[in-house]
Amino acid sequence: MADDKCSNLEKIAEAKKKWDEGPVAKTCGRFPERKEEFVTVSDEPVERLYTPEPSVMKEYNEKLGFPGQYPFTRGVQPTMYRGRLWTMRMYAGFSTAEESNKRYRYLLEQGSTGLSVAFDLPTQIGYDSDDSMSVGEVGKVGVAIDSLADMEVLFDGIPLDKVSTSMTINSSAAILLAMYIAVGEKQGVPADKLTGTIQNDILKEYIARGTYRFPPKPSLRLISNIFEYCTKSVPRWNTISISGYHIREAGSTAAQEVGFTIADAICYVETAMKAGLKVDDFAPRLAFFFAAHTDLLEEVAKFRAARRLYAKIMKDRFKAENPKSWMLRFHTQTGGVTLTAQQPDNNIVRVAIQTLAAVLGGTQSLHTNSKDEALALPTEDSVRVALRTQQIVAEESGVTSTIDPLGGSFYVEQLTDKIEAEALAYIEKIDELGGMVPAIEQGYVQKEIEQSAYNYGQSIESNDRIVVGVNKFQVEEENTIPLFKVDESVGKLQSDKIAKVKADRNEEVVKTKLAALTEASKGDENLMPFILDAVREYATIGEICNAMEGVFGQYTETFN
Ligand code: 3HC
Repeated sequence: MADDKCSNLEKIAEAKKKWDEGPVAKTCGRFPERKEEFVTVSDEPVERLYTPEPSVMKEYNEKLGFPGQYPFTRGVQPTMYRGRLWTMRMYAGFSTAEESNKRYRYLLEQGSTGLSVAFDLPTQIGYDSDDSMSVGEVGKVGVAIDSLADMEVLFDGIPLDKVSTSMTINSSAAILLAMYIAVGEKQGVPADKLTGTIQNDILKEYIARGTYRFPPKPSLRLISNIFEYCTKSVPRWNTISISGYHIREAGSTAAQEVGFTIADAICYVETAMKAGLKVDDFAPRLAFFFAAHTDLLEEVAKFRAARRLYAKIMKDRFKAENPKSWMLRFHTQTGGVTLTAQQPDNNIVRVAIQTLAAVLGGTQSLHTNSKDEALALPTEDSVRVALRTQQIVAEESGVTSTIDPLGGSFYVEQLTDKIEAEALAYIEKIDELGGMVPAIEQGYVQKEIEQSAYNYGQSIESNDRIVVGVNKFQVEEENTIPLFKVDESVGKLQSDKIAKVKADRNEEVVKTKLAALTEASKGDENLMPFILDAVREYATIGEICNAMEGVFGQYTETFN
């Protein structure tokens, strides 16, 4: 049988050679192909035609397998979207908790099936709205949260036992998680019923996003504390969303996005195991977050490669035995950097293609960008079109009826192999450098991304790569579209709220709780219970971060 298959493959190879030298050569003689070389958006060469790759035919069970089974190449659930569609989880938040609460209710009314909180920069870095560091940023890129009082308003009328909530928060993740648990308590929802995710991925902040506060060691300690605390007390909570999105947004290739993100995962797993946690206790609740760009087939191959590579690493390198520890479950956001300010309506088409890429790639949760997000936060109208894009793909395109429909494509399978191999090479290089923290401190990861970003930029400058409306098919008069504006009075509103919270709370108790947190920060206890105590007494995010910063210090970028 094997011989038949080999001879069959040889016959195919022979026939292809004849085709290349015959009809192809003849046609190209008269109509040369449009380009010398076709490449993906990550500069991967793309062949004219792909034919059966022997290894996929002979090693189906090892390389592809079945959905819901190791190595999960074809998807993490046995029935995937036939059983449950991905969560339609629109990233949203701006201004005050009151304003953001309105937008969450609107999204839920329009069919969103999960929440995703965007916090403003002061909240993300752990400064109160009335801190001098916060001037001009309060409520700008996300909602301003200063204390538990704001969180109670943010989720007013939203039952936390009925909805899963993602929170994009990293340096101050432990504090926002504590606030969410405390809001649950106020609603009568016990912590073990809460579902959602906290991004909690500090390494990508050092690499690409920048909302860091403390140095790596204490930051990684807080992350492990969250793993340990949630394993015991918030078992349905996804304790981290290891993010490739921002790495890709910074200009990485698809393979770098996979390689650097999984290298971050390796660092987190090693840190937690060094802290004494058992891999199968915490690994099932590790989650991931990737971008979906417009090169649809490369993106599908990227997601499939990421699942297989991660499954192998968790099983072989970390000896995890629980299949849930091997599953790479991920959220996708369509690529923000692919949006253009020119001809914003074109972005609706880009997002539709990227949505298909995420779905054909097997995402568990999805945010679709709005057409105006290259210019401002989305208006209600534009966010509705973005959500409808997911709903049309889900309800009308038919791609959810069968699992991994592009599996078996000669091109997609070979590109899946290629991306997996390239990503693994990056992981091995980072291992040689001593792991992700030293690699970041040496600037290795940042330099690799910068080089890829530069190459991409050059390809557009030279018109090698076309961005419709930008370097081809431009129009003279750009029609202006209505843009969302954040009310400038948010800073004052928040400062007044902070003053009221401080006037109403028991100052002595707050001081005691903050002092206990500072003391605990000096030791190696889990800090979550101390943070939760301070949050319940309406200590502010700034006060809680300052209580730790006195011990941890601040991160200063070593690589420049
Ligand atoms: N059959 C059976 N069960 C199924 C199923 C199927 N076909 N499909 C799903 N399920 C189950 C799941 O197992 C799960 O149950 P469990 O929790 O007991 O295992 C339940 O149904 C919910 O399914 P998922 O866990 O797949 O979906 P969620 O949406 O709950 O979780 C996630 C998805 C990726 C694991 C999670 O981590 C998540 O929601 N992440 C979102 C992260 C996010 O939104 N980030 C936004 C970042 S914005 C940002 O940073 C960009 C800015 O900086 C610009």
